[in-house]
Amino acid sequence: MSDLTGKKAILEIDGTKYELPIYSGTMGPDVIDVKDILKSGHFTFDPGFMATASCESKITFIDGNKGVLLHRGYPIDQLATKTDYLETCYLLLNGELPNEQQKTEFTDVVRKHTMVHDQMSRFFNGFRRDAHPMAIMVGVVGALSAFYHNNLDMEDVDHREFTALRLIAKIPTIAAWSYKYTIGQPFIYPRNDLDYAENFLHMMFATPADRDYKVNPICAKAMDRIFTLHADHEQNASTSTVRLAGSTGANPYACIAAGIAALWGPAHGGANEAVLKMLDEIGSVDNVASFMEKVKTKEVKLMGFGHRVYKNFDPRAKVMKETCDEVLEALGINDPQLELAMELERIALSDEYFIERNLYPNVDFYSGIILKAIGIPTEMFTVIFALARTVGWISHWLEMQSAPHKIGRPRQLYTGEQQRNIER
Ligand code: CMC
Repeated sequence: MSDLTGKKAILEIDGTKYELPIYSGTMGPDVIDVKDILKSGHFTFDPGFMATASCESKITFIDGNKGVLLHRGYPIDQLATKTDYLETCYLLLNGELPNEQQKTEFTDVVRKHTMVHDQMSRFFNGFRRDAHPMAIMVGVVGALSAFYHNNLDMEDVDHREFTALRLIAKIPTIAAWSYKYTIGQPFIYPRNDLDYAENFLHMMFATPADRDYKVNPICAKAMDRIFTLHADHEQNASTSTVRLAGSTGANPYACIAAGIAALWGPAHGGANEAVLKMLDEIGSVDNVASFMEKVKTKEVKLMGFGHRVYKNFDPRAKVMKETCDEVLEALGINDPQLELAMELERIALSDEYFIERNLYPNVDFYSGIILKAIGIPTEMFTVIFALARTVGWISHWLEMQSAPHKIGRPRQLYTGEQQRNIER
């Protein structure tokens, strides 16, 4: 439990004073424990959770004003450039980076579980071919509960940890198959001789007809970095959804499916897809000025800009931009959309509207451009975010399950009809 600071907040309502204890964490603002406000007959009111800490956590720390993002204490730029995705997964799950032996063991276990139950491949057939792959992800990941219910004693820590590994291992297979299904190509089975990102790209792009298909190492490296940059992000909307679902004791696969559903929205993980659609709509640099006018009159939002927490810069976007430059140069791509994106960025960063509101490019502004460069279709962008974030969701789920917790149950400010009678 966090430390009591000894400080107290005093709340006075109608002459009665309430003393509210203040806790401090290891970093970040102290929090006021508002539970005792109930004694006064009031609730707190904080739509959008602008000022509410919903839980105590040791996994990820963000200082939005300074542009800091730490996983288990390590800065995201160091993790993105000095570790691979599976090492970051190990860190999120276990609190420490793995040594060589731990890394080998972890990687081996993940590799052993990349296959999904064969009957699951037929489960995909229930979807329309033109379904959005995120719709398939929500359904298929939720359906894992029906296939893997045998190791699910929630009181058993081994069962819980095994579920986490299973999810991390199988999610690339489900993600790649959700794409293959929509384009009518046969599913490509995982190859355990490939590393995590290579295997995903192999399942996405190999076909039985092309026996010589080889994953481009530049693309695999970029993919791995995109996974790392999306691995976790503290108590965001989808992670809070996973925690809320998990607080009821729901099956973890169902909780992750709930997280995927929450991520899908364009204000959250759906933004990377929305950025590319926006660039398509703008069309050329000549139309940027008129588009910006629409943004300022609030007809449209500049997708890939703004963040609830980052009000200075998004540290993930910084690494993503560098990766974007590297990948485009290495692949020799001269994408006119990139020029368009850079013009949007240039105007936005110098325009009063954006400066006043602390709106900066977020991680999704650049990730879409890299994903496009490595051949990922737009509808798969949010799926890739979900794949990468699965480790974050399940780490938070594990953290919650390993300590006493209450069911998540917010209150409300009711503004509907008062009690009345049916006059008949
Ligand atoms: N374009 C234009 N104006 C914006 C934008 C934007 N992208 N984002 C915020 N604003 C304006 C907003 O209209 C408001 O203006 P005013 O003060 O005049 O009413 C002001 O900035 C504050 O915005 P807000 O909506 O109160 O901020 P929020 O913290 O509630 O929303 C956000 C954060 C990320 C939902 C929002 O910035 C947004 O919708 N951005 C575009 C979608 C996007 O890129 N999302 C990905 C986030 S990063 C991936 C992830 O971690 O999920």
